[in-house]
Amino acid sequence: MPYVLMHVSDLHAGWPFNPDLARLLAADAHALQPDLLVVSGDLVQRADFPHQWQVIKAYLRQLPGPQLIVPGNHDVPLLNVFDRLFRPYRQFTRHISSEINPVFELPGLAVVGGCTAHGWTVDGGRLSRDQIAKLEGIFRRYPSGTCKIAVLHHHVIDPPGSQPGRIISNADDVVDLFDRCGVEVLMCGHIHVSYIGSTLDGRPDLERGTIICQSGTTTSTRGKGREAGKNSYNVIEIDDTTIRITQQLFLENAGRFVPVAQHIYPRRSAGVYALPEPSAIDDRR
Ligand SMILES: [Fe+2]
Ligand SMILES: [Fe+2]
Repeated sequence: MPYVLMHVSDLHAGWPFNPDLARLLAADAHALQPDLLVVSGDLVQRADFPHQWQVIKAYLRQLPGPQLIVPGNHDVPLLNVFDRLFRPYRQFTRHISSEINPVFELPGLAVVGGCTAHGWTVDGGRLSRDQIAKLEGIFRRYPSGTCKIAVLHHHVIDPPGSQPGRIISNADDVVDLFDRCGVEVLMCGHIHVSYIGSTLDGRPDLERGTIICQSGTTTSTRGKGREAGKNSYNVIEIDDTTIRITQQLFLENAGRFVPVAQHIYPRRSAGVYALPEPSAIDDRR
């Protein structure tokens, strides 16, 4: 501690990929030098096409490490039904990472990815019962005070104004898992709209809730809703008392990604919120 994480999503190498934005993003990433770069899925536009994997593989090599990457629904073949049903992660594991449920650790920090994209679904996602049990086992092995972060491609709460019904099919089970394991942040993507909120926004019955850090599409032309044609990523700064999330949006007239909002949350420790030290409180009004 302190740590800096960079969160990008929905890169979509292929026809929607914008190489100019990708170059800007790489420059931002090298300037930031994050402790971890998280990519929450949809690396390619269509997993059936090997060239798109070559493009994204070469691009990811230009970005700083370490990197934690989970597959999205676009990273599973669509046209090749045999591959889709029987070897859905073949291209991902060949080109990107052998691990579709990756874990990254630093002292006081655990970032755990879960693959929500499956061959038998096209758009929606799910964490299987087996995956939920494994994630629970992983999250529970860290001592209290550890900042636990989950990374999924699919989201678990519909952001305000978004098209409803595209959350993972067992979102309640996943939200409950995060709540009982004390997961402080969920990083996700999928619907190409950025959103910073809490699982309490959709589930006020939860005991503690988990901060939602959702990125829009970072490098593609497929932004949706209020982010149609727009691109975004997030920067997450974590210290012993605070989690600060900065939303970065590409602004045409600025010609670069700029910070458009910051969200500051008190850290949670052993189930209670650790309020910031008075010296860290900015009370300008
Ligand atoms: Fe996507
Ligand atoms: Fe997606």
